Amino acid sequence: MPTPRLVLGVTGSIAAYRAAELASALTKEGIEVDVVLTDGALRFITPLTFAALTRREVYTRDNDDLRDGQPTHISLADRADLVLIAPATAHLIAQLAHGLAPDLLTSLLLATAAPVVVAPAMNGKMWHHPATQDNVALLRKRGVSFIGPEAGLLACGYEGLGRLWPVPEIAREILSRLKP
Ligand SMILES: Cc1cc2nc3c(=O)[nH]c(=O)nc-3n(C[C@H](O)[C@H](O)[C@H](O)COP(=O)(O)O)c2cc1C
Repeated sequence: MPTPRLVLGVTGSIAAYRAAELASALTKEGIEVDVVLTDGALRFITPLTFAALTRREVYTRDNDDLRDGQPTHISLADRADLVLIAPATAHLIAQLAHGLAPDLLTSLLLATAAPVVVAPAMNGKMWHHPATQDNVALLRKRGVSFIGPEAGLLACGYEGLGRLWPVPEIAREILSRLKP
C-alpha cells in the first residue's frame, strides 16, 4: 500500500500547539504529513516544531513558490489523500465557505480533490455566531466533514462549545480514513 499523504493545515488559534501532537501521532503511524501554517498560526507556533516532528519541510508564506515549475499550493493539493485543518479558526472556515484564497492553505483547499476534514477551535460565542454556523452548514452541504468542537473550559476563560476535539480522537478518525 502506498504511504498515505495528509496535508495538515494549522491556523491561528491558541490550540495550534495541539496540532504538533497530532502531527507527531500521525507521523508515527506511517502517514506522510505535510504541514501548512497560516500567518495566523505563525503567531502561535513555529515551523521548526513541525519540521522536527514530521521530518518534512513545513509550508508557510516563506516557501509558497514553485516546485518543479508548479505552484506549491497545486502540488500539495494534488498529492494529498486527505486535507485536515486542525485547529480551524472561524476565519479559515469563513474563507473556505466563501471561496477566498489569499494564502497557501486557502488556495490549496480550493485546488484539491481530496476529502477535507475540519476540526474547529474558537470561543463559544464565535462558534455559535450565525455567520459561523451558516458557513459550517454550507461546507457540510458541500461534503466537508467536521470533527468537534467539544464543550469545556476554553482558553479565553469562558465555558462553552469551541474546544478542539481531543487529539487522540482526531488522529483515530484520520487513520480510519487513510488506513482503513
Ligand atoms: C490569543 C489569541 C487567540 C486566538 N484564538 C483563536 C481561536 O481559538 N479561534 C479563532 O477562530 N480565532 C482565534 N484568534 C483570532 C485569529 O488568530 C485571527 O482571526 C486570525 O486572523 C486567524 O487567521 P488564520 O485563520 O488565517 O490563521 C485568536 C487570536 C488571539 C490573539
